[in-house]
Amino acid sequence: MSAPIPFKTVARHNRPGDAWIIINENVYDISTFPHPGGLEVLAPYLGRDATAAFLAQHNLDMLAIVEQNLVGVIDQEDEEWKQERQAAKNRVIESGLSARRATLAPISHILNTRDMAQAAESVMEPAGWAYYASAADDEVTLGENEAALGRLWLRPRVLVDVSKVDTSVQLLGAPSSFPLYVTATALAKLADPQGEVAITRACAKANVPYMCPTLSSCSLEEMTSARAPGQTQWFQLYVNKDRALAKDLLQRAEAGGCKAVLVTVDAPQLGRRERDMRFKAPQKSAVQEGDRVDTSRGTANALSSFIDPSLSWKDIEWIAGVTRLTLGLKGIQSGKDAVLATQRGAQAIVVSNHGGRQLDYARSGVEVLVEVMAALHKAGLHRQITVFVDGGIRRGTDIFKCLALGADGVGIGRPVLHGLAAYGEVGVVKTITMLRDEFATCLMMMGCPTVADIKAEMVVTSKL
Ligand code: FNR
Repeated sequence: MSAPIPFKTVARHNRPGDAWIIINENVYDISTFPHPGGLEVLAPYLGRDATAAFLAQHNLDMLAIVEQNLVGVIDQEDEEWKQERQAAKNRVIESGLSARRATLAPISHILNTRDMAQAAESVMEPAGWAYYASAADDEVTLGENEAALGRLWLRPRVLVDVSKVDTSVQLLGAPSSFPLYVTATALAKLADPQGEVAITRACAKANVPYMCPTLSSCSLEEMTSARAPGQTQWFQLYVNKDRALAKDLLQRAEAGGCKAVLVTVDAPQLGRRERDMRFKAPQKSAVQEGDRVDTSRGTANALSSFIDPSLSWKDIEWIAGVTRLTLGLKGIQSGKDAVLATQRGAQAIVVSNHGGRQLDYARSGVEVLVEVMAALHKAGLHRQITVFVDGGIRRGTDIFKCLALGADGVGIGRPVLHGLAAYGEVGVVKTITMLRDEFATCLMMMGCPTVADIKAEMVVTSKL
């Protein structure tokens, strides 16, 4: 076997008559290869990595045709090659995506988050869409998240001066243009090559906090260095079995300027998401580069192998001890655990069933929120902890309902991914600002000039 070939060497063979390309890890000399589409088809790839372009059009068996042209194997440690491969992949995603996006209506035609979801489905690769849309088992909890919000009714007050409405709030001490943050969702590059960096920038423009995910497509440092001055980022932590790695991530989040860590506590293993399992893992997250992952059971399972199922309350104390970040627990689903979280020193909880992706038949976020607030009041702890809720928030009225039930703010997951897939960064800004405008309208209609004017009696829970 000949020595691995440096990328620089391949790059020198970059013209007709002296043309090498890389597909997978193999380097081929295609100087005399009679491609059926003509030499022009190959021209952009001479001296470069053509893997993504090749896979977009061919199946792997076709490589047999160029087998006799094999020169050798690329040096897989070559950083220049790794960057070239990623850039080439992005170009292919971008070109396919931009062709599909060109078929969309102008963004001004998008009136609500449901329009945005439809637009996203029409442009996304089916495997990516399945990963985002999927939820556990029969997806009953997924449907219930929106259905439960639909069973809450509003009791507005009239003849209140609402000529000025102020939607702004503080979330964990940070200003936000309204009581909403963008929650952590894995693998944003399935929606757009800019991934979480685009979400970060959109959150800065819309002035809401962003909870950066552990399983991001971009690295933590890419996300934190994309942060605008004054912008707030939090970090969502999946606790690694190897505590040294978990600690390292926490330190990187701190060094990167994240203000809080939200430890996901509803995922001792990732849920069984059959819609996703029908597709094999299309992508790895940045945190797993270099690891071997099992891709045979869908994206979710391929991603989750490092998460520690033994995580327990003593680990929460350990995390509190090794970080200066504000500590929150994401995935609380009972009044008892909300009380325990507060007693164990958490400064925030997210009442959440993980968008229905973990345990099917887990109750909706809003239903649990009622139980959580009652338990915290009973224990006299409600002033000691910030309470967020997520799952199925699709309208400004949903945000109002959650606040009336006692939440300090809400998180949105899929709507942001939909905005990102359909229109990129501007799609995310649009998603957030549509919800902000709806929320402002709701405040006016409800007779609430400010968020502090929202009262429990304004939402009717009898049908919940
Ligand atoms: C998630 N969620 C999630 N949560 C988490 O703690 N870590 C993660 O990596 C992810 N990844 C993830 C991927 C995708 C595609 C989705 C849809 C969701 C759950 C997320 O933070 C949040 O709880 C739900 O998305 C909220 O529900 P909606 O807004 O999607 O209905």
